[in-house]
Amino acid sequence: MKKTIAIIEGDGIGPEVTRQSVRILNTIAESFNHEFSYRYCLMGADAIDKTGSPLPDETIDICLNSDAILFGAIGHPKYDNDPNAKVRPEQGLLKLRKSLQLFANIRPVATYSALQHLSPLKAKNLEGVDFIIYRELTGGIYFGKKELSEDGLSAIDECTYNITEIERIAHLAFQAAQKRRKKLTLVDKANVLETSRLWRKAVKDLASQYEDVTVDFLFVDNAAMQIILNPAQFDVILTENMFGDIISDEASVISGSLGLLPSASIGNGSALFEPIHGSYPQAAGKDIANPLGSILSAAMLLDHFELNEEATLIREAVNWTLQNGFVTKDIDPVNFYFTNTIGELISDYVSGKIPGSVKQENIELRKSTII
Ligand code: IPM
Ligand code: MG
Repeated sequence: MKKTIAIIEGDGIGPEVTRQSVRILNTIAESFNHEFSYRYCLMGADAIDKTGSPLPDETIDICLNSDAILFGAIGHPKYDNDPNAKVRPEQGLLKLRKSLQLFANIRPVATYSALQHLSPLKAKNLEGVDFIIYRELTGGIYFGKKELSEDGLSAIDECTYNITEIERIAHLAFQAAQKRRKKLTLVDKANVLETSRLWRKAVKDLASQYEDVTVDFLFVDNAAMQIILNPAQFDVILTENMFGDIISDEASVISGSLGLLPSASIGNGSALFEPIHGSYPQAAGKDIANPLGSILSAAMLLDHFELNEEATLIREAVNWTLQNGFVTKDIDPVNFYFTNTIGELISDYVSGKIPGSVKQENIELRKSTII
C-alpha cells in the first residue's frame, strides 16, 4: 500500500514522541511491504516562531493532499500566561480542524493492568472499563460568535448547532456502538440548553435506524460523576464540543497515565491522529516523554488505512513493553527507560527481532536508574 502522511511535530515533546511513531511506521512499512512517504509541516508555537502564523497555508495544503495526518502536541507557556497575546498556538489546531472539516474526535479509554496502581480510581472500579468518546469537534461554543464589549466589561461566546452537524457524528457513534457492546450514551445539558434539546431530539430520531443499539441520556454534570463512580457502565459516549473536551480529559486519567491515550479526528476525507496529552514543555528535549500516546495514535492511523493486522501488532508491542516494565519516567520515576529506547523496543518487537522470550540482560542495559 502506498500512502502519504503529513507529519506535524508541533511543540514541546511533540517532535520527540512523533519521531518514535515515524520510526515504527517505517518498520511496519518494511515488514509488510508498504510505502509511506512523509510530508513535514508546521503548526502551533513552532509555526509562530518560524512564520508568524500558528497555521501557515502550506500546512493546510499539505494536509489536504495527504492520506492522513500525524500530529504531536501544541502549546507553549509563553502564550498561556499572556491573555493579551494576539496569536496563540491553539488557534492553529482549531483552524486546521475547521479547514479539514474534522468533525468527530474519537478517544478510546482503556485500562492496562500494569498501570492500575497509577489510576486515581480503586482497582474494583477499573474492572471492565472500555469505552470510547465521540466528541463533536467543529461546532458549538468553540466556533460561535465571540465578542468583547468596547468597555471590556462584558463578553459573549455563542453556542450554535444545526441538525446536520449533529446527525453526521451521531451516525458515526451509532455505527461504533454496533461494532462494540451496542450501547450509546448522549451526554448533554438538555434541562438547560436549547442546543442540547436539539441533540437529544436528533439522537432519538436516529435511534430507529439502529435498533440493536440501546440509547440513554445523561446530563453532563451527572456524567462527570458517573465516569468516576462507575466508568464500566459506558460503551460509546456521544457529546458536543465543549462537554467532550472536559469529560475526555476527566476520562483520560482513569487509565493511570495521560501519556498513553491516542485520538483520531475524522471528517469527510481527511483524518488526523494525535496523542491526547499536551506539549509538556518541562520535559521537552529530555528524552523522558512517554511516546505510547503517539505510537497508539499511529496504530489508529493504520486502522484508518484498514491495515488492521499492522495496527494490532503495534498494540501488542505496546502491551508487551508495559507488561515487562519497559516504561517511561511518568509511569516509573525510578526505573525508567528513555523515549527513544521505548520506540526502539517497540520497533524491534514489530519487526520480529524480539522473540517470545526477552533477552532481559540486553534490555536492562538501556535502563536509566535514579538512586
Ligand atoms: C483538545 C485540546 C484543545 C481543545 C485545545 C488545545 C484547543 O484541549 O484537543 O482537547 O480544547 O479542543
Ligand atoms: Mg482538551
